[in-house]
Amino acid sequence: MCGIVGYIGTRTAYPILIKGLQRLEYRGYDSAGIALMDNGNASLYKCKGKVRDLENLVSGQNIAGTIGIGHTRWATHGLPNDVNAHPHKSMNGKFILVHNGIIENYASIKKMLTKNGYKFQSETDTEVLVNLIENIYLEEKVSAETAVQTALRMVVGAYGIVVICLDEPDKLIASRKSSPLVIGCGEGEYFLASDATPITEYTDRVLYLNDEEIAVVSTNGISLKNLNNEAKELVISRLNLSIESFDKGNFPHYMLKEIHEQSTTIADSFRGRINNDMTQIMLGGINEVIPRIAKAKRIVIVACGTSYHAGLVGEYLFETFARQQVEVEYASEFRYRDPIIEEDDVVIAISQSGETADTLAAIRMAKEKGALILGICNVVGSSIARETHAGVYTHAGPEIGVASTKAFTAQVIILTMMAYLIGKRRGFISDETYHSLIEQVLEIPDKIKEILKDEDHIKEISQKYVEATNAIYLGRGFLYPVALEGALKLKEISYIHAEGYPAAEMKHGPIALIDDKMPVFVLGTKDKYYEKIVSNIQEVKARKGKVIAVVTQGDTTIKHLADDVIEIPEIDESLSPILSVIPLQLISYYIAVMRGCNVDQPRNLAKSVTVE
Ligand code: F6R
Repeated sequence: MCGIVGYIGTRTAYPILIKGLQRLEYRGYDSAGIALMDNGNASLYKCKGKVRDLENLVSGQNIAGTIGIGHTRWATHGLPNDVNAHPHKSMNGKFILVHNGIIENYASIKKMLTKNGYKFQSETDTEVLVNLIENIYLEEKVSAETAVQTALRMVVGAYGIVVICLDEPDKLIASRKSSPLVIGCGEGEYFLASDATPITEYTDRVLYLNDEEIAVVSTNGISLKNLNNEAKELVISRLNLSIESFDKGNFPHYMLKEIHEQSTTIADSFRGRINNDMTQIMLGGINEVIPRIAKAKRIVIVACGTSYHAGLVGEYLFETFARQQVEVEYASEFRYRDPIIEEDDVVIAISQSGETADTLAAIRMAKEKGALILGICNVVGSSIARETHAGVYTHAGPEIGVASTKAFTAQVIILTMMAYLIGKRRGFISDETYHSLIEQVLEIPDKIKEILKDEDHIKEISQKYVEATNAIYLGRGFLYPVALEGALKLKEISYIHAEGYPAAEMKHGPIALIDDKMPVFVLGTKDKYYEKIVSNIQEVKARKGKVIAVVTQGDTTIKHLADDVIEIPEIDESLSPILSVIPLQLISYYIAVMRGCNVDQPRNLAKSVTVE
């Protein structure tokens, strides 16, 4: 989604802003722009397209100035074009603004401003906001900060904004509500951004703005207030991210790098959380609330997209090992349904970015109803991580490819450890089983490496299905959510229509689609559903479908039936989602690459969905 950068200091702002925008490209966008302040004069450049198009536009122009703001826009109001791109300037030229989010009551504000003589160039809600600020500033003859505060009290919706006032050109004014904004604090210089990615190379000291806080940033420091002008405490946090983690290394795409990283990211997720003699799981972030989780009558998991699929694996895990009732909800549906939430419920929000607007809104609602709210987030310091009562970070490192891969397996391993831990505490897992499960968790990294050794074979299989227009993914039990995830991966990066189903559901409709052109990806590892999956494969073959099966090493039965098989090492069925998803990630990656798709930035998609 939209990315914001800002700089104020003593260096030339332009290269810092461009680099920052490049670092934010992964969030997904369709246009880009910057505004630079040089001795009180503003230069504004913006265009449809990529950051490199913006650089071409700016080439040969004035790029002086030590203060500036920049933006990558993911269209919400109005087409992606030059005019709708940010920054937006107010009609009388007093203010320039970049915005992430949606101003829901923009139409009524626009009407009011139009009556006051305002004319609009773009179709955006952002231009309405910048003119509202200017209108207040000019009519009420107040400071820029007060004008921004007053305007923000009037708007309904979500915003992360950075504002320049041309009459007060030595400062940037920043504020947020439901859209993230971080300020990196250097020595006499400040770096503003939608997330910490562009800040890491300059400083590890950051201020995460909270909702409805307004920061006035100058080279002398930051003044922080709320929208009612009350001073707020500056809480500076330390970032623990290395700049290398944002590079592709020797891989052609971030997605491939992130698929390969899973042998280490899984280890990072459980490192320090399992004791040396493999008898205990220790999840420090939820330690204090374990008694409450263990007593919960119901666990509700809220998430979106891939994180929702991880949540579905969580349902099987908690039911199997902790014998607790679990509901998994799309956050977007849950938040608007007035769901029944009791005080002894535990709500777990799963989010890679920790900023997904629907998931954030869902936990706020559940919190008001008195439930214990836990987070499983990847981005440290993200909004969801900060708004939950307790939680466990996945520690998968920055995920830049838009299609989530390593975050999924990290979320699943955290859920697995939680379920084992709570199951043990509730007395449903014996010491012996617990020990054996923990031992198998520790073996996952090596088993992932083994799967990745088969990459050339997986690539060859992918080649066969490059021309497919549809695909079906089937799985049962723990592997049903993996079927959903495999289908999502394929459709989002290769634009091939794909659906995942519980294998037995095939007979209730999808089987009608099967012909000799339909690839059917089947998760057929050795578990309690094995015989049933074999029957499902026979049903597909009887209708001439092409079966690509993920099987346990040494399998002979499915090997004889399927068109292609990919073997994965044997593991307890509760851990098989982590291994079996990897071949599916690779297949979607290779099919997308072979189809010439932009795998890291697929069309229309955003990495961090900060609007509902
Ligand atoms: C798919 C994908 C998305 C995200 C979803 C939730 O590959 O990445 O479906 O999983 O937008 O995002 P987070 O996990 O950041 O809340």
